[in-house]
Amino acid sequence: MDKVHVGILIGSIRKGSFTRQVANNVIKMLPEWMEAQILDISGLPLYNQDFDDGGVAPEAYHAFRALAQKQDAFLFLTPEHNRSVPAALKNAIDVGSRPIAESVWSGKPGAVISVSPGAIAGFGANHHLRQSMTFLNVYMMQQPECYLGGITKCLDDEGNIIRDATNEFLSKVVEAYAFWVRRFVGEQ
Ligand code: FNR
Repeated sequence: MDKVHVGILIGSIRKGSFTRQVANNVIKMLPEWMEAQILDISGLPLYNQDFDDGGVAPEAYHAFRALAQKQDAFLFLTPEHNRSVPAALKNAIDVGSRPIAESVWSGKPGAVISVSPGAIAGFGANHHLRQSMTFLNVYMMQQPECYLGGITKCLDDEGNIIRDATNEFLSKVVEAYAFWVRRFVGEQ
């Protein structure tokens, strides 16, 4: 039985990232038929169309695109920067989207979890990401929407989610995500 490959994109490149800690918890909740891989976005040079027009893209672009292309589905976990998607994540989205005929995103299922210490829970980032995904033809799960606010109160020093309600909610999100992905990849 082939596993379904799920590319995990984390919108923070900070060492102590709360979003990365949440991602590690979520990865453990995925069903065994999914194989999750974090796609590192931290080494991608800023997107410049000249790289692609001249045909000499940085090696980091090739590596990221090749890995992302192998994924059957995507799961985005993102903090919010100034009510939008952090630049590092937007950069990775742009890198993966070109050359346009070879976009790594198109036709695959996805979902987004936004994470914030604040009360608005990354709503702006969550929806700006959805806007880009609409254009990029990623089939985003609509429900349940997942906005995790007050995240510092949910995590212990080892990065475990210690709030029962958050764990229960995330389990439901993961279950719905697995069901959503199944609709696109079928039985494995
Ligand atoms: C933030 N932060 C933030 N938080 C939020 O809820 N909405 C926002 O618009 C912003 N804007 C913002 C801009 C910039 C430039 C920074 C550096 C931070 C705070 C942010 O949620 C906090 O730093 C998180 O800890 C970032 O997520 P990670 O890195 O912990 O995953």
